[in-house]
Amino acid sequence: MDSIIVTGNGPLKGQIPIAGAKNACLTLMPATLLSEEPLTLTNAPRLSDIKTMTELLQSLGAEVTSMQDGQVQAMSSHNLSTTRAEYDIVRKMRASNLVLGPLLAREHHAEVSLPGGCAIGARPMDLHITALEAMGAEIELKDGYLHAKAPGGLKGAVHELRFASVGATENVVMAATLAKGTTVLKNAAREPEIVDLVHCLRKMGAQIDGEGTSTITIQGVDRLSGATHPVVTDRIELGTYMLAPAICGGEVELLGGRIDLVGAFCEKLDAAGVSVEETDSGLKVARKNGRVRAVDVVTEPFPGFPTDLQAQMMALMCTAEGTSVLEERIFENRFMHAPELMRMGAEIEVHGGTATVTGVEKLKGAPVMATDLRASVSLILAGLAAEGETIVNRVYHLDRGYERVEEKLRNIGARIERVNAE
Ligand code: EPU
Repeated sequence: MDSIIVTGNGPLKGQIPIAGAKNACLTLMPATLLSEEPLTLTNAPRLSDIKTMTELLQSLGAEVTSMQDGQVQAMSSHNLSTTRAEYDIVRKMRASNLVLGPLLAREHHAEVSLPGGCAIGARPMDLHITALEAMGAEIELKDGYLHAKAPGGLKGAVHELRFASVGATENVVMAATLAKGTTVLKNAAREPEIVDLVHCLRKMGAQIDGEGTSTITIQGVDRLSGATHPVVTDRIELGTYMLAPAICGGEVELLGGRIDLVGAFCEKLDAAGVSVEETDSGLKVARKNGRVRAVDVVTEPFPGFPTDLQAQMMALMCTAEGTSVLEERIFENRFMHAPELMRMGAEIEVHGGTATVTGVEKLKGAPVMATDLRASVSLILAGLAAEGETIVNRVYHLDRGYERVEEKLRNIGARIERVNAE
């Protein structure tokens, strides 16, 4: 299993190109199940999660090819070979549950393995299920699989989500595109990845309004066509690399970065004393003198501060002047990076969903263990700012969500390498 070795060094300088969003691509790919014509996604990130989704769609009978230049072509023209999403693939990645809505819409039945819990929390699927049931689906759990059917097809419905779940919103929006009648989804998630999905579905002929707001209205149509669609910029990769100059000092331009994708996060950087400026090609982040200031953070659905940047922000706060309080409100168990950061000399106290971080002058390199995707990258950021060498073990999590991470960081002057620790 690979490890990454980071040696702390001084200010970083240069440019980092930001890839297409993993979490947008993971919902755009299953959308191919809704049409018999080809869907071409450009600007797709080259990540192991995208390979897993490719494998899942292929197992259902879709033809999917990924090109080196970040193009993914997917097509489900023929009858699908099965509507069963097997546990062996689903267990690798929770986003596999995003085939449920499209399969139900197209084939009127689906069997999708329950993804189970994961390191960051229980992550049930009740919100997906109740919403699809409101649209006429009958769903039961048998042998670890959700057995869903909608004899005669799904029907439009008015439904309010108990919580603005990203995945449930995506499943319902996709399912509703081919349902009979109009679906009104209230308390829908507003994340940019959902806006991107709707833009793509609209190109495929879907009739949808209200994306980016809490009410999305979908008028079902008989069929969808193919489309070509560029995947939106990855706001989490963007925010992660914005933190590199914030934690090490220096000046880095994030190519393709957009303020509207990371508004709440930028407000916190500003309060911490890190400058963010729009340029012709993206965003420029700079921290010149002294330590950053401690700021408090509460994670919330978009447009609030994203849970997927909480671990990375904690790494920054470990080096800040003062005490900050980070409250995690989306996942119940997303502080596993805290004990690892403490191995590097960070002062953190965790009580339930709240972490209190007292900044230290300097973190110290140490061997640490990556426990999930965002935790892994937070340890790399901490390592960049630490004295000496940090060895991040179990980095396979990292490859799920960050392409060419060592190359991108080396290009701005970081000392980072991957080693195979057999
Ligand atoms: N939830 C339920 N019931 C449900 C669905 C969700 O209780 O039926 C709960 C979850 O357990 C969680 C909260 O609602 O506590 C939020 O879950 P949500 O459904 O919004 O998240 P998701 O769709 O499973 C996506 C991203 C996550 C990101 C969250 C929140 C993808 C593929 N994943 O997950 O990304 O953290 O939204 O923004 O889009 C990551 O990239 O590292 C990652 C974990």
